[in-house]
Amino acid sequence: MKLIHEFVSCLLYLLVLAELIVHSSCRPVHGSSHCGLFGSMLHQVEQLMDLAKTMHDLTDDELVHLAHLDHRLDSLPHIEYTAAHFSTMKLNKSLAQMYEYTQSFKLHVSWMKTAQENFSLPLQAVESSSRHLHHLSNLIKTSLQQITEEVPQSSPPSFPVISTAFDALRHSLEISERLEAFCIWSKRVLRHFQRHSRCPRN
Ligand SMILES: *[C@@H]1O[C@H](CO)[C@@H](O)[C@H](O)[C@H]1NC(C)=O
Ligand SMILES: *[C@@H]1O[C@H](CO)[C@@H](O)[C@H](O)[C@H]1NC(C)=O
Repeated sequence: MKLIHEFVSCLLYLLVLAELIVHSSCRPVHGSSHCGLFGSMLHQVEQLMDLAKTMHDLTDDELVHLAHLDHRLDSLPHIEYTAAHFSTMKLNKSLAQMYEYTQSFKLHVSWMKTAQENFSLPLQAVESSSRHLHHLSNLIKTSLQQITEEVPQSSPPSFPVISTAFDALRHSLEISERLEAFCIWSKRVLRHFQRHSRCPRN
């Protein structure tokens, strides 16, 4: 019985392998070809997650005071989801969504960079974030093109005027908090599709 079972598993494995070869030679669109991209995206997201925590350059004490202030950047992506969200996701839609969020953060972070420059605030974290967002956005774009899904276009938001260094800090705090939420969401999405595409664990 066990032998038959093993024989069947082996046969299935060969069939899957054969199918993979057929698919990858006819159309490079197969799930397994995403694995490399998912891994690279996760890497960018993890770097961003670390940066989001340091982007505002505030001490814990200052954070406590700022935490009471209203948040005002309506143009920032508001990432809300429930557990059910992850079980009903489709690769095409989720990647398009992730691309839109990434584009939006790219614009916000680049706006933040100008503001921080204007007030001579430290730029290192925004600059690195900007670079990682740029890489992430290119990776998602490549994935979207692989599944022949349209790359979403979005119009740039209009940003408020930043007239004080305090405003700059407040906005950078808000951007970094939302960026962190985006990273948590993206990690879960990418891990889900890694499992779904049976990507090898790294
Ligand atoms: C996304 O892919 C699913 C199948 O996985 C398909 O049913 C759906 O129409 C696609 N959606 C779009 C917007 O292309
Ligand atoms: C930075 O300063 C320039 C020149 O004063 C101004 O045009 C720009 O809007 C400022 N950027 C931000 C984000 O406040």
